[in-house]
Amino acid sequence: ETKPRTPVVWVHGLECTCCSESFIRSAHPLAKDVVLSMISLDYDDTLMAAAGHAAEAAFEETIAKYKGNYILAVEGNPPLNEDGMFCITGGKPFVEKLRHAAEGAKAIISWGACASYGCVQAAAPNPTQATPVHKVITDKPIIKVPGCPPIAEVMTGVITYMLTFDRMPELDRQGRPAMFYSQRIHDKCYRRPHFDAGQFVEHWDDENARKGYCLYKMGCKGPTTYNACSTVRWNGGVSFPIQSGHGCIGCSEDGFWDQGSFYDRL
Ligand code: SF4
Ligand code: SF4
Ligand code: F3S
Repeated sequence: ETKPRTPVVWVHGLECTCCSESFIRSAHPLAKDVVLSMISLDYDDTLMAAAGHAAEAAFEETIAKYKGNYILAVEGNPPLNEDGMFCITGGKPFVEKLRHAAEGAKAIISWGACASYGCVQAAAPNPTQATPVHKVITDKPIIKVPGCPPIAEVMTGVITYMLTFDRMPELDRQGRPAMFYSQRIHDKCYRRPHFDAGQFVEHWDDENARKGYCLYKMGCKGPTTYNACSTVRWNGGVSFPIQSGHGCIGCSEDGFWDQGSFYDRL
């Protein structure tokens, strides 16, 4: 309780803000406990009360005061084309802000598919040259927490681990926390017995869909997607896409837009 709270600087590039929307819905730990008791969220352009010049002043003050000691959380990515002019924040290209903030960070968290892999804005032909964080910042430890968005409890779980043990979580070959991304959706899917038995939904809303059969023939990407949805689930553990009747679209995999994850088979 006497330990100083770890400063976190949370910046936003090209993104939709739903990673933040996911984060604030964390049920365990509650997002409010993370923000008010566990970390010191000294800058976050979407959650902070300050705006405009006051917010930018807080940004500069925080990265100067806590140089070498803060965690940089990145939501979204920088577009590099035309000197970064496709994403301007505080009057400057976001890529400049990202590089500036990364200089004094002790570690970087890439939230979601945008920061980790590029997501929709990096889909072909990627006119803005939207680029994932690790391809721009190459001299800092980076933790990728992919998903579009990532699961709330995975986000707060990563932060909780780093604060509790004062180290990075174990990462897999792609730089994702192994504790949440080492298994495929398919490995723990409750519809797996139907897959093994060859019982598949053949058309949307057919009799087999009503029976809850496997969604593989409807394009489910669960067999090739590494994420914790079939174990941690969403909305405080209530459900996940497959439980709602739709196959996984592989939102936590690299390049999921260009790989045709959306509706291969209608
Ligand atoms: Fe939005 Fe998905 Fe990007 Fe997160 S990863 S900011 S949810 S588009
Ligand atoms: Fe695997 Fe998808 Fe079928 Fe679940 S619904 S068993 S993840 S193919
Ligand atoms: Fe994304 Fe598939 Fe989970 S679409 S939310 S990784 S079930």
